[in-house]
Amino acid sequence: MKTGRLFEAVKDEANRADPYPLYARLRETPVSRQDDGTYVASTHAAIASLLHDPRISSETLPPSERPRTGNPLSDWIVNPVKNHVTNTHRPFIFRDPPDHDTLRGAVMGQFTPQRVHAMRERSHVLVSELLDKQAGATRIDLVEDLAYPLPVTVICEMLGIPREDEPQFHGWATQLASALEPDNLGNAEARAANITTFDEISTYMAGLIKEKRRHPQDDMLSGLGGKAGPGMGEYDLIATAILLLVAGHETTVNLIANSMLALVRHPDILARLACEPDLAPRLIEEMLRYDPPVHFRTRRALNAIDIAGTTIPEGADIVLLLASGNRDPAVFEDPDRFDPDRPDIRHFGFGGGLHYCAGAPLARFEAEAALVALAQRLTHPRLVDDPPPYRPGAALRGPKHLRLAIDGIA
Ligand code: HEM
Repeated sequence: MKTGRLFEAVKDEANRADPYPLYARLRETPVSRQDDGTYVASTHAAIASLLHDPRISSETLPPSERPRTGNPLSDWIVNPVKNHVTNTHRPFIFRDPPDHDTLRGAVMGQFTPQRVHAMRERSHVLVSELLDKQAGATRIDLVEDLAYPLPVTVICEMLGIPREDEPQFHGWATQLASALEPDNLGNAEARAANITTFDEISTYMAGLIKEKRRHPQDDMLSGLGGKAGPGMGEYDLIATAILLLVAGHETTVNLIANSMLALVRHPDILARLACEPDLAPRLIEEMLRYDPPVHFRTRRALNAIDIAGTTIPEGADIVLLLASGNRDPAVFEDPDRFDPDRPDIRHFGFGGGLHYCAGAPLARFEAEAALVALAQRLTHPRLVDDPPPYRPGAALRGPKHLRLAIDGIA
């Protein structure tokens, strides 16, 4: 296959279960021009350099202008064309400094050590409760029964969403996750569904934020609500709350599901985790390298950039193929081997630079609680399908279902 068509193949669902051979081909040209004019950075060095380059922007553009929807929040996803829709309605993952830094700073201030520690404890309780519900089962779907409900509950509790409204959030989170797939930006049906969800969730959030301002509690939304002002308008607040829900949901689902898939395929390491729970942090870092939830992120060149023998022209779309950098043999010995004892794991699982994942500590705790409990409590887990069925997304990649046959739950 021609180099210029390789990224098209990455997006093809037929290659979802194992895109890694395509990444190896892409790495032969560290920054390659694809036939549609996109530039793909695939080596560790090229990705690291671009992640820290002020000449790349996160204010990425869709291919064409489309009419406005009337709801400024859904506009950023339907028609986020710079200077057409005001920039202030985008979540900060899609914004550049200085706005990005102001909003991110406000959020980071809410991830207090006390709050994160409390959620660490809560994650263990939530995992136990979810597994207890499956008592007596001989088959479980790890995605539906554990990985999916856990992160929504965690982020809802941190934000301060009333418990009775949580089921509604599970539905919204599912819909919004699909909005992050670049291919859905051009799909009319997906767009219409996203607009409805954005309308519903932004109306809900606006009401809740008002309520939190009147009666502040010890939660992130109350804390952020008090910060609204010149740096953070009403829509910024709503967009930030939605971002936390979306960015923290399917990513964490995929980390838990991808990890369990790798562990069931490596039963020796699964057995080791059961009796050596301290292995979990290293194992999770290796998972974020070996089979991460986020395979790529897109950017735009603000100026022409010369890198690794290629000139990226001004205005070009850039794909940072994070999951390929993680398998670069120039940095990792025997990169296709899953090895939690690997020293110095400099992975791109949480990105890097200005937009480095804001929820990384939370995600690590949730995954740790889930994986240790699964290793200790599932008796003799076997994969029902190998490979499992995958969700359609190539950027946010993970199993749709992970069905395990088990002898019981301890
Ligand atoms: C950004 C991965 C969990 C909130 C990112 C980025 C990656 C990532 C790769 C960089 C995006 C870019 O450069 O464009 C993950 C993974 C997770 C996870 C793999 C789970 C395993 C979470 C959680 C939260 C969260 C639990 C919050 C509750 C965010 C936010 C950003 C972000 C707010 C944007 C940061 C910015 O633009 O400055 N994440 N994430 N993430 N993540 Fe996560």
